Amino acid sequence: MPWRQSPSPYRTWISEIMLQQTTVAFVIPYFERFIKKFPDVRSLAGAKEEEVLSLWAGLGYYSRARNLLLAAQKIVRHHRGIFPDDFDSLISLPGIGRYSAGAILSIAFQKPYPVLDGNVSRVFSRLTAQNKTPEEWWKMAEDLLDRDHPGDWNQALMELGATVCAPENPRCKICPVSFACAALKTKTQNLFPAPKIRKNIVKVNWNFLWIERNGKVLLWNRGEKEKLLKRHWGLPEMGKVHARVGSLLKTASHMITHHQINVQVYQGSLKKEVSAPMKWVPRSELPKFLVSSLWKKCLPKAN
Ligand code: ADE
Repeated sequence: MPWRQSPSPYRTWISEIMLQQTTVAFVIPYFERFIKKFPDVRSLAGAKEEEVLSLWAGLGYYSRARNLLLAAQKIVRHHRGIFPDDFDSLISLPGIGRYSAGAILSIAFQKPYPVLDGNVSRVFSRLTAQNKTPEEWWKMAEDLLDRDHPGDWNQALMELGATVCAPENPRCKICPVSFACAALKTKTQNLFPAPKIRKNIVKVNWNFLWIERNGKVLLWNRGEKEKLLKRHWGLPEMGKVHARVGSLLKTASHMITHHQINVQVYQGSLKKEVSAPMKWVPRSELPKFLVSSLWKKCLPKAN
């Protein structure tokens, strides 16, 4: 894992934010591209939001990318560009909660703070054969923490959960703590942790227009009021521009959190000129603006 080499506070921060909701293997190329473009807090603080979002393209939960930028700006303004090393300053930065603060303090500063994520709480749940609240698991993380090696301890615990104590088919035969596992003893590994109650899936239908002129495609900035993909650039939704609707070009389906989005893309031709929040973008530059994986599924092929 590239962030384990020279684990500076900055590299630890970026990697831990990227690793939320995703796997290590998926994150590595994103991390490397990000660090190459923004090697330190100051370079990130000077970035444009669009640049940061385009490096985040495909990782999802884009507020994480916006918060990285806001936090970097705050570190430059309020901490003279020096990464804070105390819990209260860290937690007051946008996008940094108890987990990220604990990860940064333990991994980059060797301070005795615990972490708790889905992997760690699954390990705890199986070790004790109990279902408890996150608050109780935080207490257990605090109690078990190796105070002399908090960074190694936390990372080992997370990695154990991700690679050995996996959600399905845990590899108990190679588990270094199987001797202490209450779930294994009672063969109830698959009953712990109890499945989360799923949020109801909300169906959403989006009709987009593909409006192309002289090799450029009309994009719409989704703005602050949209529920999903706020402030993202995207194809204009039907009704946002005065256009004639032509043939159906493409359909796709995409999940964002608990929203199942069914997408139709129709050919469109403008009836009236448009202005902001629209812009014409050359086809070759679309990937810079269309960052959600949704767009990969529904852009019509070049002809
Ligand atoms: N998952 C999230 N952060 C991690 C880390 N630092 N090591 C292993 N797995 C992780």
